[in-house]
Amino acid sequence: MRSAAGNASEIRFVHARRVWDSRGRPTVEAEVRTLSGAVGRAIVPAGASRGTREAIDLRDGGQRLGGLDVQGALAHVNGEIARAVMGLAADDQLALDERLIELDDTPNRSRLGANSMLAVSMAASHAAAAVHGVPLYQYLGGPDAVLLPVPQVQIFGGGAHAGRRTDVQDYMVVCPGARTFAQAIEWTAEVYRHAGLMMQARGATFGVADEGGWWPVFNTNEQALEALVAAIERARFVPGEQVAIALDVAASEFGKGGRYTLALERRELDADGMCELLTRWIEKYPIVSIEDPLAEDDLEGFARFTRAAGKSLQIVGDDLLVSSAALLRQAAARGAANTVLLKPNQRGTLTETRQCWQAARSLGYAGIVSARSGETEDTTIVHLAIGWGVGQLKVGSFARSERMAKWNEALRIEERLGARARYAGMGAFGRNPMTR
Ligand code: PGA
Ligand code: ZN
Repeated sequence: MRSAAGNASEIRFVHARRVWDSRGRPTVEAEVRTLSGAVGRAIVPAGASRGTREAIDLRDGGQRLGGLDVQGALAHVNGEIARAVMGLAADDQLALDERLIELDDTPNRSRLGANSMLAVSMAASHAAAAVHGVPLYQYLGGPDAVLLPVPQVQIFGGGAHAGRRTDVQDYMVVCPGARTFAQAIEWTAEVYRHAGLMMQARGATFGVADEGGWWPVFNTNEQALEALVAAIERARFVPGEQVAIALDVAASEFGKGGRYTLALERRELDADGMCELLTRWIEKYPIVSIEDPLAEDDLEGFARFTRAAGKSLQIVGDDLLVSSAALLRQAAARGAANTVLLKPNQRGTLTETRQCWQAARSLGYAGIVSARSGETEDTTIVHLAIGWGVGQLKVGSFARSERMAKWNEALRIEERLGARARYAGMGAFGRNPMTR
């Protein structure tokens, strides 16, 4: 495809620098400048509870900075990637990303690193939007980009993000019944505030976990669910009608080979036991979405749980699908999950992430664009969610500016769209969970 903007979008300068993420760890920021002088900039995030089939996040190893430095990834961007993409059109994302993939030439981006590739892929999209003089969401989606996502917001953070204080990783709320994104955020703010007051009243103020959710001082996983319902009620919302619960079990973190070890409760379950436990929770609590209910190596368990509960429940594959169109097709063939989590750094280019979403749509799966636990002020994913019309957005909790930056960016876009803005609401879910 030739650039619609002619030579103006020709890439003339690429530079990567080391910046720092919300855990104080090094990460890659890339800057792309075009012939017309348009500049795009993006920072890649990093996960802590990663799927084993994710593209490789290239780190230097060794002693310094815990082995997490990114000098190798920076050198790739400033060296061979810069040379390879020079002269390409920033607004031909497909050609640019194909060039990066071809240059890396490994199945999992282990040579150049998904972090070096994605930084350039995203920075180029920002530069392209600047060339065209429109915000990124509009550049990606055109006049159809009017759908504001349902936010999935963490209230208690556990698992790998809280020293494994609870086995379940994310206890979240969703407000599909709100009228606007801004209203959903306001409702969420009330629930988050009341959850904090409740923890304080219990003498359990231990600060917040990696993504800003309250530190989960509970004796069982179920106590966190009870506290979440109580917080929704104290905030004067009707649980399950106005504000509902979404979980990320992140079961790959404590399950392998069909055995699941719930350390907090000192018990071990098989896949059937996990399904029974989750089914009990679904019956008892207003849960509308469960991510990674089973481990990434348990496609069969995933399929069984989807058959049992997936008609009315959103069942999300994160570690299971790692934003891969190929893995999504395999899972769909087995009937596993009905929704895909989309994290661009699980793949390494915007094009592959978008292809996964396109595959999902054609197979009847819903989608959620997601941040990582190690984030920054970068708000690219908000533009992806709206530009691609995905309908749901998960960026952690309602505290810490790397999270708030995303919610605030979506508020700005909703305001800018004015009367054209449409809140995804119930329609975002592949199934209608509120009618259960
Ligand atoms: P991660 O976790 O970013 O630490 O991998 C987020 C998630 O599991 O959704
Ligand atoms: Zn997850």
